[in-house]
Amino acid sequence: EKGGYEHFMLKEIHEQPKSIMDTMRGRLLVEEGIIQMAGIWDYQEKFLNAERIIIISCGTSWHAGLVGEYLIEDLARIPVEVEYASEFRYRNPIITDKDIVIAISQSGETADSLAALKLAKEKGAFIYGICNVVDSSIARLTDAGSYTHAGPEIGVASTKAFTAQLAVLSMIAIKLAKHKGTISKEKFNSLITELDSIPDKIEKLIKSTEEQIKKISLQYENVHNFLYLGRGYNYPIALEGALKLKEISYIHAEGYPAAEMKHGPIALIDENMPVVVIAPRTEHYEKIVSNIQEINSRKGKVIAIVTEGDIQVKNMVAEAIEIPDVSECFSPILASIPLQLLAYYIAILRGVNVDQPRNLAKSVTVE
Ligand code: M6R
Repeated sequence: EKGGYEHFMLKEIHEQPKSIMDTMRGRLLVEEGIIQMAGIWDYQEKFLNAERIIIISCGTSWHAGLVGEYLIEDLARIPVEVEYASEFRYRNPIITDKDIVIAISQSGETADSLAALKLAKEKGAFIYGICNVVDSSIARLTDAGSYTHAGPEIGVASTKAFTAQLAVLSMIAIKLAKHKGTISKEKFNSLITELDSIPDKIEKLIKSTEEQIKKISLQYENVHNFLYLGRGYNYPIALEGALKLKEISYIHAEGYPAAEMKHGPIALIDENMPVVVIAPRTEHYEKIVSNIQEINSRKGKVIAIVTEGDIQVKNMVAEAIEIPDVSECFSPILASIPLQLLAYYIAILRGVNVDQPRNLAKSVTVE
């Protein structure tokens, strides 16, 4: 059942070219030049007139929500707030019938997400679900939704469900942007063509980096702390990379927006602090380069995620892992893959049962 892999997690990491293809099947229609999503189409007016979108979720799904905020605000220009379900539900939130509340949940059973959604429904919001498990409690409660169709995810650490969530959020953002007229037809066509190429790019990425990541992990088996930094679209991926490492290797890790480093975490940096920096060639490239300089001058060891062919960052860091060149809005999908592999291989060296790490359950159905 593990398809020849040692763990479900490794199998699920490797399945991502296929799972993302499944997520997009019948929806991303490049030849026809459309994105077909019944859940959005049927309630188009609601989405186009929404004053804001509130995304609620927990854990990894919350990180997907943060990427969703960048996508929807950047492309469709609808204000988005992203909330931890547990905080949202207990603080007497302001919700009106002009709000759309989207819950993101792999299992569709997370207690806090379900309760937060019930509250939003009571207050009159239109509620939408992005779930992986078909017919789960959240999927049944919502007015409409889009399944991620990533297939069953068994490993406790979410991998393929996360990238499927990013793919669904990308399609929603691009579709809304088209209907709102916030992107041109040319931009729409180039985005959907590019999104369609992501599964192939992931395949290539895993092939070209897995051995390298295995080797890198040998050096970090015994460290006690890790810092993860990213900017813009990749700030949530820094958080997700750190969560992945924490939950399966039991190494303490923190994710930060790179610019926040100088507001505190920089005090932690010395020769014993590995820092994973997500540094693809995007709008923020030069800023990330100066963040790396700051780390270097304090002797921190940098593992950078860079765009294929990068020279500048590569020459500055201990390790550089290359990802294919894509538009910034799709870089989170690609950047998450090496971080999943890094967490996996470090955890294996430490002898952790990665599919069932201590103290964790696949779905958190208690508060
Ligand atoms: O099933 P959900 O997506 O609602 O689960 C939310 C979190 O419990 C989940 O993402 C958790 O953080 C994972 N263990 C992360 O790998």
